[in-house]
Amino acid sequence: MKALTDLTLIVRRTDDVGELIREIELTRPDAAPLPAFEAGAHILLTLPGGTENAYSLIDLTGDPATPGSYILGVRRDANGAGGSRFMHDLKPGDQVTASLPKNHFPLDPGDGPVLLLAGGIGVTPLISMASALARRGRDFRIVYASRSPAAAAFADRLATHGDRLRLHHDDRDGGPLDVAALIAEADPATHVYVCGPKPMIDATRAAMEAAGRADLFHAELFENVSHQSGDKPFEVEIASTGQVFTIPADKTIIEVLEAEGIDLIFDCQRGDCGICQTDVLEGTPDHRDVVLSKDERDSGKVMQICVSRALSARLKLDL
Ligand code: FES
Repeated sequence: MKALTDLTLIVRRTDDVGELIREIELTRPDAAPLPAFEAGAHILLTLPGGTENAYSLIDLTGDPATPGSYILGVRRDANGAGGSRFMHDLKPGDQVTASLPKNHFPLDPGDGPVLLLAGGIGVTPLISMASALARRGRDFRIVYASRSPAAAAFADRLATHGDRLRLHHDDRDGGPLDVAALIAEADPATHVYVCGPKPMIDATRAAMEAAGRADLFHAELFENVSHQSGDKPFEVEIASTGQVFTIPADKTIIEVLEAEGIDLIFDCQRGDCGICQTDVLEGTPDHRDVVLSKDERDSGKVMQICVSRALSARLKLDL
C-alpha cells in the first residue's frame, strides 16, 4: 500500500555500467528537488506485487542536500525473486514508487580514520561514503573487490579518490580479498565499513572481533540470505498466545507472521539493520544476519526474524 510519504518517481536514464549492472537515475515528474539523504542511505522501491526492495543511493559529490535525482546501481540476479529483473527492465519515462530515504548504515560522526570495504554491487553505499569523507577531509581508504574488471561497476567514478582507492579483482589477484590482512595493517582506531556478500562481511566481522575492535565494525548486506537450497519448513510458536505457525522453505518468519496478522517491527528485511531482533525462548536459530556478534549467535537467545531460520523443528519466540 502506498504511504502518504512515498515518492512517485520517473526513470530519467538507465546505463549499463558493469557486467549485469545497470545505473538507474530517478527524478520527480516535475524535476523538483528530492528529499536530502546522507551517505549510506537507501530507498525502498515498490515492486510488482507490492513487495519492496532496498537500493542504496549513490552520491558522487558528498553533499546530497537537495538532490535533483536519485542514482541507484542494480545487479541483475537471474536466480532472485524478480526484483532485479523488474529494475533492469525499466525504461526512461517509467514511473515507480519509492520510500523516503532511510539510513541504517551511517558514517560515525568522529574524525578518525576509515576503511571502506566493498564487495561487488555492495560498492553503492560506499561510493557515497567516500564522497562524504573526501568532502570532510577525513582520512580514508576504499578497497573495492570484484570478480573481474568487467564486474567492477562505478570503479571509474571512484578513480577521483586517487591512491585512496585500491581495486582488487579475484581473477587477477589470485582469489578473494584478504580482509583480515587489511584490518591487521590498519590503524587500530580505524572504523571499518563493509558492504558486500555475506562471506566477506563475516570475515571482516571475525577479524574485527579477533582484534578487539568489534565496536568499530559496520556492515550492510547486499545479498538475499533468507532462502538457500536445502532449506526446510519449521514451526514458530508465539510465546504470548501459544499460536504455532509453519514457516515454509520459501518464506521468511516475518512474511508468514505478518500474513497471519501478528504485529511486528522490521525494516531492512536483509538482516543488517537489527530492528527485527527477537528473543528466542526455545529452539535453535539458524543465523543468517550480519548484525549479531559471535557471542550473541553462539548464545542462541536472540535472532533476526527477517532472514534467519531454524536448525530445530520449532522455535519459541518472545512475541
Ligand atoms: S528487518 Fe533489518 S535485520 Fe531484520
